[in-house]
Amino acid sequence: MTGIDSDHPSASAISTTGDGGPGGRRRAGFQSKPRKANLERDPGMPASTWRLRSDAWEYLKFAIKRLAASGGDFSMIAEDGEVWRSLRSLRTIELYWGGFGQRYVEEITDLLSGGEFDRAHDMITRAVNRLRGTTVPDVGEDDLTEDERAELKDRQDSRPRFEVLIVDETTEGGRDELHSDLLRLRNPTDQFIYDYVIVPTADDAVAAALTNPNLLACVIRPGFTDHTREVLSRDLRDAVAFAHETTKASPTGPMSPLNSVRRVLRLADTLANLRPELDLYLMAGAHIESLAGALTHRFRRVFRREDQFELHLSLLRRAQHLYDTPFFDAIREHARRPAGVFHALPVSRGGSVVGSKWIGDFVDFYGLNLLLAESSATSGELDSLLAPVKTLKKAQLLAARAYGAKRTYFVTNGTSTANKIVHQAVVSPDEVVMVDRNCHKSHHHALMLTGARTAYLEAYPLNDVAFYGAVPLNRIKQLLLDYRAAGRLDEVRMITLTNCTFDGIVYDPYKVMSECLAIKPDLVFLWDEAWFAFARFHPVTRKRTAMVAAERLEETLDTNAHAAAYREQRKRLFDPETGAPAPDEVWLAEDLLPPPDATIRVYATQSTHKTLTALRQGSMIHVYDQEFSTGAEEAFHEAYMTHTSTSPNYQILASLDLGRRQVEMEGFALVQKQLDLAMSLSSAIARHPLLKKTFKVLTAADLIPEEYRVTERTMPLRDGLSTMWDAWVRDEFVVDPSRITVEISGTGVDGDTFKHEHLMDRYGIQVNKTSRNTVLFMTNIGTSRSAVAYLIEVLVKLAGKFNDPHELQEQDALTEPAAVMPPLPDFSAFAPDYAAEVPAEDPSKQLPDGDLRTAYYAGLRRQNIEHVLPHELRRRVENGEQPVSAGFVTPYPPGFPVLVPGQVITAEVLDFMSALDTREIHGYDTRQGYRVILKEVLES
Ligand SMILES: Cc1ncc(COP(=O)(O)O)c(C=O)c1O
Repeated sequence: MTGIDSDHPSASAISTTGDGGPGGRRRAGFQSKPRKANLERDPGMPASTWRLRSDAWEYLKFAIKRLAASGGDFSMIAEDGEVWRSLRSLRTIELYWGGFGQRYVEEITDLLSGGEFDRAHDMITRAVNRLRGTTVPDVGEDDLTEDERAELKDRQDSRPRFEVLIVDETTEGGRDELHSDLLRLRNPTDQFIYDYVIVPTADDAVAAALTNPNLLACVIRPGFTDHTREVLSRDLRDAVAFAHETTKASPTGPMSPLNSVRRVLRLADTLANLRPELDLYLMAGAHIESLAGALTHRFRRVFRREDQFELHLSLLRRAQHLYDTPFFDAIREHARRPAGVFHALPVSRGGSVVGSKWIGDFVDFYGLNLLLAESSATSGELDSLLAPVKTLKKAQLLAARAYGAKRTYFVTNGTSTANKIVHQAVVSPDEVVMVDRNCHKSHHHALMLTGARTAYLEAYPLNDVAFYGAVPLNRIKQLLLDYRAAGRLDEVRMITLTNCTFDGIVYDPYKVMSECLAIKPDLVFLWDEAWFAFARFHPVTRKRTAMVAAERLEETLDTNAHAAAYREQRKRLFDPETGAPAPDEVWLAEDLLPPPDATIRVYATQSTHKTLTALRQGSMIHVYDQEFSTGAEEAFHEAYMTHTSTSPNYQILASLDLGRRQVEMEGFALVQKQLDLAMSLSSAIARHPLLKKTFKVLTAADLIPEEYRVTERTMPLRDGLSTMWDAWVRDEFVVDPSRITVEISGTGVDGDTFKHEHLMDRYGIQVNKTSRNTVLFMTNIGTSRSAVAYLIEVLVKLAGKFNDPHELQEQDALTEPAAVMPPLPDFSAFAPDYAAEVPAEDPSKQLPDGDLRTAYYAGLRRQNIEHVLPHELRRRVENGEQPVSAGFVTPYPPGFPVLVPGQVITAEVLDFMSALDTREIHGYDTRQGYRVILKEVLES
């Protein structure tokens, strides 16, 4: 669907007549309406407006050019439904974007209808040039009209540009006045320029916030009305309704001087919910002083209408605050200053490189700036990561603002290190940590280092594609209830989950935390968001990030409604007479509510470098911990000191600072594009006759068992943003649309071969994750439309090759028949020496935790272990022995340990390992076999 449902009756309201106006060659126009074509297209709206907008303008240019080439055969335009569809879409879209506005599109429509093609062509060209960023005029500057010259000058202005939404029911005259005021206020010394987008209603304001990522601020004038007069697509209409629905009515003082206060606040809340980065201003006429008291918690400032200049300064200042990159600026400043180095780091200032006969290509390739920026100084403005007080401290504060955290810490050695820092900060030896067994290996290593007792949680398996999903909430609740039943709940300190998983399965952290806190109100949560940093910058994905969930939890626990609901629920959860908890089934069936005094202690670790702009290893830890300043900070500080290099890489830190600026300025645009391009890719695979014969894009139906989904659509974003939104609000798990798992059994080769021999070696296409029969394609904020087109082209070529009977024969001769992948083994158990005690009265009630650290150190002593080859190990297992692993065995993929120290090695583990075809297995030497703890050691 386009920006408008073009087959809606009023969509044809665009004028098709006109007098053509003066100037330009006038030809006979269309006296009748263009033929009604099939007007449905592109359901990605509003996620795809950015693409739709530029495609529509480009199409118009192409159509008019074709008209010229045809020698003026007007019927071409008259009968081209796409021209009229594009104009109708643009009429709505341009209302929500700065630059040309609705009137511009209407004028073009009138010109075309009136046969004035030359003038229409000029206007279309101006729009296209602006979108393409072209700054060179098509004709000599002397031939330009005054309007065109002004437009060109504006385009040539290279200052960064943003857009400001004005919500006000105003007349055409009022709009023109606002625009000319704006031009008058512009000053050559301003660092940025901005355009206004003026919309008359609350619905339009929300539609603009959803579709136009260039907006950085919004000025609300209380004169707006509620309902749009535009004809919106079903998707955009539903998304606008969703946005309004999810906003709670804001409490207003009963003595509000204006009855519009509530509406203004409601709109402000809706916009803040959608786009927290939008800076909100209120511009009012009367009663401004009393309004200021009632409204300022939402608005940065309240202005009077006459204070345009003040507003202008505020807008520029705010943009400057977002733009500010204190650490990057300090590095640049440092690079410019002359300095002598009488300390470490010979490369600094190019010292050991520039004069070298042998490594001159270092500078040639990377450029001198890299070496000028390298320094071991922590003085001046450069600051120390271990005790930041200046620019790094400020950069981290800005990152906390951008990511919605209370504190943010930069990490220069990846999320592998960030995870270890959080584990050490939170957990003491012998405390229990519940952790997804399929989590990244850094958690398992951290658990070993801290001496925690590890209780593995099992994710649901996806045996057909040989990987795991995520851990169902009821399994986590059940395990907590088991610890409570055994009287050991007080030992459980932390729950660690991966959100989202490598394969794109996303939890609902708010629900998980709420329900777990209802059983144990002081639990700490570590959300490994290594792959989810981008999610913060899109209104739908943001809701499932740890930081937003923590904030929402804090707000909810503070309400009277929650306290009342909590008290009611407790009556169902405990026997009123004995006070004993109701049976587990009751606790599992209820959506448990946490006590109002539960503590919110949430940590999120993110590999910024994986999904956003940062040099490799650039990562962050975000903290939302109510106990941070009352004790937890010290432990965190010590852990940070333990794992952080005293020579952190400054370029990584500067890139984190710059990446933060980027997401604050254009994060929404980039993430929207990332999701939309992923949809284009998956749709292309699903629709192309050859591709769909060879490849299958896995959907929620394949990746999430039905019991964890309430909504029905299996590729929600393909049906539009509102469908995705619905699934992301209601389903227990959802799939990140930017991850496309493609099943490749139809190719006859396995994932690893497909990745290396076909994609990389032949076509230079890099993917990371494969399983036996799947390949994971990911779009990210750097993905372009051309890259997606190239991938589709390559897949079509490959599909052709795999379907060519001659090629197939050759293939068969080379490829061994694919082995059947055994199901992924669940975590077997810790050996008795390291496992939890077996309850004498009921051995089946043994809890799953084990002591990784003791097993790890036992396994490191040479005299304690032996190496055993797989066939011998299998013989022992078949004889009823229970060999115990001395170390971690981690195949890549899947990238998590199949064996950990102290774990019993079972036939299932051996089957799985023998069927694995991965090239890289950490902790396993194919010549020597498995490292196994000697029986005598275990029995002693
Ligand atoms: C879920 C998860 N957590 C943590 C990491 C480690 O991140 P980094 O490579 O930034 O150390 C990875 C790496 O792939 C991962 O997939």
